Amino acid sequence: MKKNIICGLSANIPITSDIFTLHFNWEGPSPKAGQFFMIRPARSSVFLGRPISIFEFNPATNTLKFLIIRHGKGTDELSKIRAGEEVELTGPLGNSWAEFLPENGKAALIGGGAGVAPLCALVAEKENYFFHFFAGFKTGFREKEKEDAILGAALKARKVIVAAEDGRNAHSGRIVDFLFEPENYNVILACGPVPMLKALKEKCKLRGVECYVSMEQRMACGAGACLGCTINTVKGYRHCCSDGPIFNAQELYFDD
Ligand code: FES
Repeated sequence: MKKNIICGLSANIPITSDIFTLHFNWEGPSPKAGQFFMIRPARSSVFLGRPISIFEFNPATNTLKFLIIRHGKGTDELSKIRAGEEVELTGPLGNSWAEFLPENGKAALIGGGAGVAPLCALVAEKENYFFHFFAGFKTGFREKEKEDAILGAALKARKVIVAAEDGRNAHSGRIVDFLFEPENYNVILACGPVPMLKALKEKCKLRGVECYVSMEQRMACGAGACLGCTINTVKGYRHCCSDGPIFNAQELYFDD
């Protein structure tokens, strides 16, 4: 059940010049890892909210965190809000990772860029599950503390592999290339740029491993009412917001 609540921002914590976390005290329905919120500053020049996946939710304290990379007008506005300012949060929306996770098993989590965030939320939610976490970035982080802040709860996974395409302070190359034996896992869960998801889909198809991916689409209503987020699948067009954002990778047409 979703709610639309105006919340005061508890903190806006910069990690790098373009990456930051927003913290709220969320009194609405508890979100699950993989779900997202439409977020919009109450006094905004941007008409529509931005869909942002949860980075961490602590049900004991109701602390809700989002990890955001600045890449447009909406996220630029979000980067400038300060503690105490009012923000409209609509959610939690969409399906969750737990729906695709076997009760007992091993899962590889593959995150690219800001796509690490919803997977970090899953490690926080299922503390005792067997996870290996693969995180890929275009540029590595000069300072380890910054990398750790972005990986958040992912650092609690049994194994964490970080790759950067520039090789700075990390394995050098594309993160999918470091998933050597996908067949060692019961399921692969991923979120990140489309080229990464495409490569992963092919690898999992070849090795016969189930793979579910969270898709990032532009959204307007966030609730299945406007056709603003359609996505092409083998079952026809689907709404990313209300049918997803998590889909079986083998059912997606990434090129359309
Ligand atoms: S954003 Fe309106 S239908 Fe998905």
